Amino acid sequence: MSESTKPASVITISCLSGGSGKTTTCLNLATMLSSKGKTLAVDFDPQGNLSQWLGWTDLSEDATIAETLMPSGDRLNIKEIIKPPKNEDRKGKLELAPADYSLSGAGDIIAPQPGRERFLKRALKPVLNLYDFIVIDSPPAKGILTYNALLAADYLVIPTECTNKGVMGAVNTVTLLKELEDIDFIVPTIMGIIPTRDQWSGANQTRMSKAALTALSSALSEIQIFSSVRQSTIVQQTNYAGWSLAEAGEKSLATAYTEVVNTIFKARTNV
Ligand SMILES: Nc1ncnc2c1ncn2[C@@H]1O[C@H](COP(=O)(O)OP(=O)(O)OP(=O)(O)O)[C@@H](O)[C@H]1O
Ligand SMILES: [Mg+2]
Repeated sequence: MSESTKPASVITISCLSGGSGKTTTCLNLATMLSSKGKTLAVDFDPQGNLSQWLGWTDLSEDATIAETLMPSGDRLNIKEIIKPPKNEDRKGKLELAPADYSLSGAGDIIAPQPGRERFLKRALKPVLNLYDFIVIDSPPAKGILTYNALLAADYLVIPTECTNKGVMGAVNTVTLLKELEDIDFIVPTIMGIIPTRDQWSGANQTRMSKAALTALSSALSEIQIFSSVRQSTIVQQTNYAGWSLAEAGEKSLATAYTEVVNTIFKARTNV
C-alpha cells in the first residue's frame, strides 16, 4: 500500500431504519470511488451484508473489524484484517475491512470502556494515509456500534426508504447526530439524503413514495436531498453480484450515487 498525500475522506452511511438501502449505498459509493482513488470499504454491521456481497460469505476462520476494537493486548491493527474483494478483481483499488456477527459481541465488550464511542476512529488511524476514501456501512439501530460509525466519519450520507418508516429513520438519525454534538462530540457533516426504493408504476410515482418525499423535504428542509434511487430488481441482482449499478451499465438507476460521488470528490479537492 502506498502513502496518499492527504488523509482519507471518511464517509459513513447511516440511517436508523432497517432496510433503508445503507449497504446498497455503501457498495455503490465504495466501488465507484475506487475508480477515482484507493478506497477502503468498512463493514461495521454485524449482519455482514457488505462483506457477503464482496464475496466473503464465511469469515469464521478470519479476523474481522471486531478484533480492531478490543482492549489493548487483544487488539489487532486494522492492516491485519483488510482483504481484497473476493468476487471481482478491482486491481487493489478497493479493499474491505470485513465484519460478521462477532461484531455484536465486540459491542458488548467495549461498552464499559472509556472512550468506547470512538474505538472505530482509533482503529482507522493507521490507514488514514493509505487510502483516498474510506466508506463505512453501519447497523440500523441506535447503539454503541452506530455511535462509533458516526464519530469515525468526516461526512454522513443518509439513505432513506421512500416510506413513512424511512422518513422517521432519517429524522431520528439527524436527531441522534444533534444529541452527540450537544455533548461535545465532533460529528460528521451531513452530505445529504438519498431517497431509496422510490416506487413507480409505469410513468407514475406511487402515492406512498410521493408522500414520503414530501414529508422528507419538509421535516429536513435544511439538508440536501439527492436524486432518488428507484425500486428495481436490478439493484438486488447487482448487490448480490457485488457490483455497483454504474459497473453494470445501469446509468440512470445510478444517478443518485454518481451525484454523491461527485460531491465527495469535490469536497476532497476543495479542502
Ligand atoms: N433501489 C432498490 N430496489 C430494489 N431493492 C433494493 C433497492 N435498494 C436496496 N434494495 C434491496 O433491499 C434490501 C435492503 O437493502 P440494504 O441491505 O441495502 O438496506 P440496509 O439499510 O443496509 O438494511 P439493514 O438495515 O438490514 O442493514 C436488500 O435486499 C437490497 O438488495
Ligand atoms: Mg445493511
